[in-house]
Amino acid sequence: MRISLLALIRLMPWVLLSPFALRDAPAAFEDLADCPLILACTGCHGDKGVGSGPFPAINSLEPQDFVSTMQSFRLGEKPATVMQRIALGYTDPELLKMAHCLSGAPSQ
Ligand code: HEC
Repeated sequence: MRISLLALIRLMPWVLLSPFALRDAPAAFEDLADCPLILACTGCHGDKGVGSGPFPAINSLEPQDFVSTMQSFRLGEKPATVMQRIALGYTDPELLKMAHCLSGAPSQ
């Protein structure tokens, strides 16, 4: 994995908050061993990524759209307040895995 220590430290509060977002988790979230990366997202994007207040839903994107959106954030092509910094912390294979977790599809 190519997640830098700094990125991990930045995401730590969300990882710690995420258990609150995991109650009533759907099938895709039941085996957290398969979807640990998503824990860094649900603190803002809500339970199961359904969206929360100002944070858009991220569970309704097709996997390829999810990956291309995250890549656009990473490259600075899509305007962002926080998402460019977050997207920089993930490799393409990790994004694909997250996309499948969020869409409920098998992760392989
Ligand atoms: C600190 C809060 C926060 C965290 C944590 C966070 N996001 Fe976001 N996300 C946002 C905000 C705010 C936006 C709107 C764009 C912006 O201002 O950066 C957004 C937008 C997005 C979008 C675009 C949705 C759309 O339809 O346009 C995607 C995809 C996304 N986030 C994925 C993720 C993923 C995956 C993670 C976990 C790795 C994550 N986010 C973690 C706050 C957050």
